Amino acid sequence: MIIDPAKSIPAFYAGQSILLTGPTGFLGKVFIEKILRSCPDVREIFLLMRSKTGTNINERLEKILNLPSKQNFFLNAIATLSLKINILFEKLRKERPSNFEKLIPISGDVSEKGLGLSATDRQMLVERVTIIIHAAASVRFNNSLKYAIFANTRATKDICILAQSMKNLIALLYVSTAFAHVNEPFIDEKIYLPMADWQKIIEIVETSDEHTLNVFTAKCLDYAPNTYIFSKNLAEKVIQDYSSSLPCAIVRPSIVIPTLQEPIPGWLDNVYGPIGLFIGGGKGILRVACLNKTVNEDAIPVDIVIKAIIVVTWKVGLTTYDHRITDSCTLQTPLVVNCTGQKYITYQDCIKMMFNIVNEIPLEGTVWTPHTILTDNLVLFYILTILLHILPAMLIDLILIFTGRRPMLVKLQRRVYVANRAVSYFSFHEWKYSNINRLTLTSLIPHDNLDSFSFDCSNLDIKTYCKNSAIGGKKFLLHEDMSRLDTVKAHNKR
Ligand SMILES: NC(=O)c1ccc[n+]([C@@H]2O[C@H](COP(=O)([O-])OP(=O)(O)OC[C@H]3O[C@@H](n4cnc5c(N)ncnc54)[C@H](OP(=O)(O)O)[C@@H]3O)[C@@H](O)[C@H]2O)c1
Repeated sequence: MIIDPAKSIPAFYAGQSILLTGPTGFLGKVFIEKILRSCPDVREIFLLMRSKTGTNINERLEKILNLPSKQNFFLNAIATLSLKINILFEKLRKERPSNFEKLIPISGDVSEKGLGLSATDRQMLVERVTIIIHAAASVRFNNSLKYAIFANTRATKDICILAQSMKNLIALLYVSTAFAHVNEPFIDEKIYLPMADWQKIIEIVETSDEHTLNVFTAKCLDYAPNTYIFSKNLAEKVIQDYSSSLPCAIVRPSIVIPTLQEPIPGWLDNVYGPIGLFIGGGKGILRVACLNKTVNEDAIPVDIVIKAIIVVTWKVGLTTYDHRITDSCTLQTPLVVNCTGQKYITYQDCIKMMFNIVNEIPLEGTVWTPHTILTDNLVLFYILTILLHILPAMLIDLILIFTGRRPMLVKLQRRVYVANRAVSYFSFHEWKYSNINRLTLTSLIPHDNLDSFSFDCSNLDIKTYCKNSAIGGKKFLLHEDMSRLDTVKAHNKR
């Protein structure tokens, strides 16, 4: 029986060939898991990946999925026993083990001109891909302008050029950021005037010498807090300019945080957002943070973002291959959907809650009683950083050196300082977001698919969510043993 793709999201994805960029990232991994599990009849997913630190793309994929390696069964047995196993894919492995075979790694580097694809791979993509999810990005705030523009803006242009040559493309979804338009206090679900002309900027960074670019970067940073935001802002305009000939959509997540529910609550692979405060503060390393306590943190669980991506792509794809479909959602191209938090908590309340959780679920190897001072006063922040971060770190490093061990705390505190300064812009500002497209799309999800694909999280219970995230941070990031809580509590008391 053929099911109408307008009435079933899995039916829409059946037989589709997806090209995913950024599959090794936080969002990419959760996307792979969700689509293979909830849209099991998808034909194949091409994963644009690069080799890294001596590991080729096939080995990287095996590592991420914890798939049995063809080369070393002994090592696999150890990996399976180890706490470090990536349990993100456990449910999928149980429910649809054969679906892993649908993953096809493709070698590429989005910062290279033409995405670094071989001619053969490019041709295969042109022939087979029907949907593109472009999630790859260099998310470091302090990249050089040149690299940020290459990896985030020019790459988006190159993805659009590739998309134009594809024979059966029905949707191109670009993962942007809710902070792409920091100079607007209210962010509508539309494209804004860009900070600069993307074509000229690409040309300038391709042709200028380093010194000129340094001067030029300072000029660009008059408009954006960092090169990441600048390059993502321009990338949205790239998508808009190509959307007259391509079926495009943009999803704009705010800070992406651990899974709410799927496939397991609290899964994460990074320390962005509140989890950084929990781990840094909980270990006693983060004693002071520069932020405005009264600002509300805008964050959204990663599984909710992935469901939004799947639903938006479904909507755009449906409209593309059947222009007769009309409904209450008037699609403007590109379709822009803000994917931001629906429940808010101030930084002050967030950190209070996190420290209550730390008392209940303490972290191993705490170096100081968990407590973080929040200040919006820069002078006080610098003084406290010296007193509470740098001097104690120097002292501990000296002890480590004298006892023949490797010093590490000064280096760590340097990284904490850089991260603290990099994110503080976002904790001093608050933005409001329109969510009309989000609500309309949610109302269009077929009733039978609501359980699997609704990206409404207005019922989220912040306390339970934070607790699950803290447990997730402890288990999946720090690889700590949850059965040792009493021992750790006793240690911390001492
Ligand atoms: N996480 C958030 O809070 C957040 C918030 C708003 C928007 N976003 C957007 O969501 C998307 C995914 O972010 P994420 O959190 O998943 O980031 P992530 O964990 O840092 O992953 C980034 C992905 O992009 C890939 N990538 C980076 N540079 C590349 C290059 N030159 N060539 C090929 N691949 C490259 C990375 O591959 P490697 O593993 O090889 O480095 C990785 O797979 C990005 O577009 C980001 O701007 C994220």
